[in-house]
Amino acid sequence: MRKFNLLVLFVLVAGLAAYAYAEGIPEKITIDDCAKKKSAVEFPHKAHFERTKCEICHHVNEGLTAENFAEMEVKACGTCHVEPEKAETPICSSSSTKKNPFHILCISCHKDAVAENAESKAPTKCTACHLKPAE
Ligand code: HEC
Ligand code: HEC
Ligand code: HEC
Ligand code: HEC
Repeated sequence: MRKFNLLVLFVLVAGLAAYAYAEGIPEKITIDDCAKKKSAVEFPHKAHFERTKCEICHHVNEGLTAENFAEMEVKACGTCHVEPEKAETPICSSSSTKKNPFHILCISCHKDAVAENAESKAPTKCTACHLKPAE
């Protein structure tokens, strides 16, 4: 009987932990901090954080995980990349692949993914991310 209760408790706790995982982290995000010349970008956040470490993108949140994010202050990229303090910091209004923080981050990884696997759905073309013309 005691063993049985422990088992039930274990299953319950494990179930709760799985349920709590990633609860509260946005599943999909529309990135529109700077959208002006091009349309906002639909970003499948969950699909990314299930296969990539958080801090690869959230570079100011060292050690960030799906478990500890609620105790950390996860700032939107735009906080620092819409009007950066320093001229050399990447800015999200740039169309350049080298000066826009999203282009630097997103396109480089997508290019690697496509180079590794030609079937990859990782978008590298302008219109594959900026789906519609700007409004
Ligand atoms: C992997 C996805 C991706 C690809 C590919 C991509 N972009 Fe972007 N781009 C973004 C994201 C995300 C932003 C930031 C949007 C925001 O902050 O509103 C952005 C921002 C921009 C901006 C500044 C915001 C605006 O609307 O004025 C321009 C201009 C732009 N991109 C042009 C391009 C061009 C031209 C190409 C092709 C050479 C391209 N992008 C390819 C994701 C992408
Ligand atoms: C491939 C890049 C990438 C990965 C990996 C990633 N994120 Fe994000 N995350 C983003 C982007 C981009 C945003 C949108 C920020 C914005 O709107 O400027 C965001 C937004 C968020 C936000 C909302 C912030 C706000 O207030 O707007 C939270 C919370 C968050 N991420 C947590 C996480 C956690 C936890 C992980 C790891 C389990 C993770 N992210 C992995 C790119 C990523
Ligand atoms: C608290 C401010 C802050 C936040 C929030 C922030 N960044 Fe940054 N980011 C910076 C600064 C400052 C730099 C300039 C280089 C440095 O000092 O790290 C930078 C540099 C970068 C670079 C260029 C790195 C390189 O190797 O050239 C990329 C890409 C980038 N950020 C993407 C993002 C993305 C995507 C997010 C949101 C998920 C984000 N940043 C959130 C401040 C921030
Ligand atoms: C560390 C690598 C990495 C980073 C960083 C990354 N991606 Fe991706 N992304 C991928 C891979 C790999 C795929 C393709 C998955 C597949 O083939 O199913 C993908 C797919 C996508 C897709 C297509 C989803 C679909 O199912 O059609 C979009 C849209 C996308 N990424 C947007 C972004 C944006 C916007 C950013 C930057 C904020 C970003 N990604 C950053 C690796 C990355």
